[in-house]
Amino acid sequence: MNNYDPLFQPLTLPNGIKLKNRLAIAPMTTWSGNINGTVSDQEIAYYERRARLAGLFISACIAVSPTGVAFDRQFIAFDDAVLPRLKKMADAMKSGGAKAILQIHHGGSEAKRAYTLFGQLYSASAVPSYSEPNEVPVAMSDEQIETVIREYGIAVRQAIRAGFDGVEIHGANHYLIQQFVSAHFNRRNDQWGGSLEHRLKFPLSVLEEVNAIAKKYGDDSFIVGYRLSPEEMFHDRGYDLNDTLQLIDELMKRGIHYIHVSQGDSSSRPNGSEEDAPTIIHRIAQHIDGKVPLIAVGGIHFPEQAVAGLRDGADLIALGRQAIMDPDWSDKVRNGKTNQIKTALNLDQQSELVVPDCLWSIITKRKGWFPITQRE
Ligand SMILES: Cc1cc2nc3c(=O)[nH]c(=O)nc-3n(C[C@H](O)[C@H](O)[C@H](O)COP(=O)(O)O)c2cc1C
Repeated sequence: MNNYDPLFQPLTLPNGIKLKNRLAIAPMTTWSGNINGTVSDQEIAYYERRARLAGLFISACIAVSPTGVAFDRQFIAFDDAVLPRLKKMADAMKSGGAKAILQIHHGGSEAKRAYTLFGQLYSASAVPSYSEPNEVPVAMSDEQIETVIREYGIAVRQAIRAGFDGVEIHGANHYLIQQFVSAHFNRRNDQWGGSLEHRLKFPLSVLEEVNAIAKKYGDDSFIVGYRLSPEEMFHDRGYDLNDTLQLIDELMKRGIHYIHVSQGDSSSRPNGSEEDAPTIIHRIAQHIDGKVPLIAVGGIHFPEQAVAGLRDGADLIALGRQAIMDPDWSDKVRNGKTNQIKTALNLDQQSELVVPDCLWSIITKRKGWFPITQRE
């Protein structure tokens, strides 16, 4: 009996699909797609190398719309020509027994003008993004909103055709969906904005479309997850944890297979709360009360932390940077070799770790993001 056994217990999702353990790989952009928006060979190798790490493998975010491309070399869903390579990526992600999930994404005002249709940025209202304060997006028309909702559906159809086991709606990290939820970014007074109920209409319409397309082209085994940021971090008037709990209720009413809480530190407490207050994960877990599985992420490097996350109320623990730094993490934990876990990037090991060139260059150059083992 190993102290980490809880991590290796299977989990059954609400649609009956069984995950082989309680570990997930967090979605991580690679900036390494081909220049035409297809998945690159380097990315396929990167996914294959990590295929044994977890029961649920969530991909980098894929752009659902030409109006929402947000990263250099982000792969795209809105062209049938990308399908053969998407299929190879799904196969690589599934090759170790994990369920492969495609994270579907629209950048909103966080997109890059140079990459978007007609060089335009789109959001709920003409409020600049957090990261580009001088870039003012257009407030989307009803017709533009309806089109983007349909594009999420098209991305689901592509995911099914490529052989993914499911999709994750990216409703976190200040991208378009979160921009609709946030009263800071959404200043509308129509059916898409104003009250919380109206601000939730866009994410809920996306979920309804995703579920309708999954039902039409897939079957009950298709997994639909939703990733959210539990609080708006940079603007007091955005939304808070209570608003998020209402969003979760509405997601559950419409049918969802997991909720994924995006955080930098999985043991964070709500903004402004006492030091010994229950964590955000604990609060959400109590609220959900076992009705759908909950994924926690953020700062997990050692199995003790992962087990503590389960004890706190999460059903699955996602590894982000740790999955890049040590693709053999789970094997080491299962086999009692935790002293061999690598919690820093060794600058000589890019090829051993199978990390695409552009991803490697970004994570080794951006200071303070990944721990680096210095060369002797
Ligand atoms: C290289 C990199 C790329 C990321 N790309 C995405 C992404 O495409 N979608 C997303 O929802 N989060 C993305 N994230 C956030 C991670 O999913 C995760 O929430 C975050 O890194 C915290 O987990 P960690 O401490 O285990 O790394 C990215 C993180 C990293 C390190």
